[in-house]
Amino acid sequence: MDSSFSKISQALLLLVVLCGITGCNAQLSTEFYSKSCPNLFPTVKSTVHSAITKEARMGASLLRLFFHDCFVNGCDGSLLLDGTSGEKNAAPNVNSVRGFDVIDDIKSAVENVCPGVVSCADIVAIAARDSVHIMGGPNWEVKLGRRDARSASQAAANSSIPPPTSNLKQLISSFKAVGLSSKDMVALSGAHTIGQARCISFRARVYNDSNIDPSLAKTRQRHCPRSRGSGTTIWRRSMSILRRISTTNTSRISSAKEGSSTRINSSSVGDPRILSSGLTAR
Ligand SMILES: *[C@@H]1O[C@H](CO)[C@@H](O)[C@H](O)[C@H]1NC(C)=O
Ligand SMILES: *[C@@H]1O[C@H](CO)[C@@H](O)[C@H](O)[C@H]1NC(C)=O
Ligand SMILES: *[C@@H]1O[C@H](CO)[C@@H](O)[C@H](O)[C@H]1NC(C)=O
Ligand SMILES: *[C@@H]1O[C@H](CO)[C@@H](O)[C@H](O)[C@H]1NC(C)=O
Repeated sequence: MDSSFSKISQALLLLVVLCGITGCNAQLSTEFYSKSCPNLFPTVKSTVHSAITKEARMGASLLRLFFHDCFVNGCDGSLLLDGTSGEKNAAPNVNSVRGFDVIDDIKSAVENVCPGVVSCADIVAIAARDSVHIMGGPNWEVKLGRRDARSASQAAANSSIPPPTSNLKQLISSFKAVGLSSKDMVALSGAHTIGQARCISFRARVYNDSNIDPSLAKTRQRHCPRSRGSGTTIWRRSMSILRRISTTNTSRISSAKEGSSTRINSSSVGDPRILSSGLTAR
């Protein structure tokens, strides 16, 4: 038998044995590309940095892109796959997920320094971390070694990404379905303190809810008509709020500057569904 064939069969045997032991859950590692792509991190970061310099909102968009990828069959890059039946066209993503061009730019930059090595799923994970850090949020080590999906599931994207209409119980259960606790859910919901939202996403909140700062509701109503299309106007939240949240306990934020003049207090920073539950006091 030819020796390269027997090496392959040995490798396969080893894989079968390892799968038997670990249930085939390959371990992710921060060192995954340390030999095969030593310049990966600075390469990704500089492209993310340019994108955010060009448009500050892009940091929040890249973070959301990662979240929406991960919630559907894991962080496997499936959201990046084109095709009308793909996840890009699922209800929670169509006309709202942004940043695909930036991911393409990062992928090209990474291919230039180490062709054919780094998965797109890992690039999305690193870009989300870099975005948060560049915008003034916390930093963390990203474990790597994800494999890219070859198929996407629009049905799963429609059903598993928690919609803005979810109540607390539904939110807890969506996060639990992907192995995240209610504490994780509260922490991850902090991502909503940056970026922009479409009028359609907060119209009911600013017109129909009573547990909202009335002056904030009024300001937002000015840019979001009570009825009429999805609106192109936005609810902008600033980076300075993210900074404060990363260093302060949310319930202690009494006011923060948003843009130039809007004052925000703890009933309006963060997600009211969560704030009212007392979970944020943890
Ligand atoms: C996902 O939701 C969109 C919008 O509601 C719908 O048009 C589409 O058919 C759904 N896709 C699947 C596979 O259920
Ligand atoms: C506000 O509530 C009323 C009564 O339930 C409903 O008809 C209306 O569509 C709601 N408005 C928004 C913007 O959700
Ligand atoms: C925060 O907003 C709520 C709701 O509008 C209001 O009742 C409360 O007095 C405000 N607190 C501060 C510190 O401004
Ligand atoms: C958060 O702030 C509140 C109000 O000042 C305080 O009661 C609570 O103990 C703080 N929690 C933590 C974890 O620091």
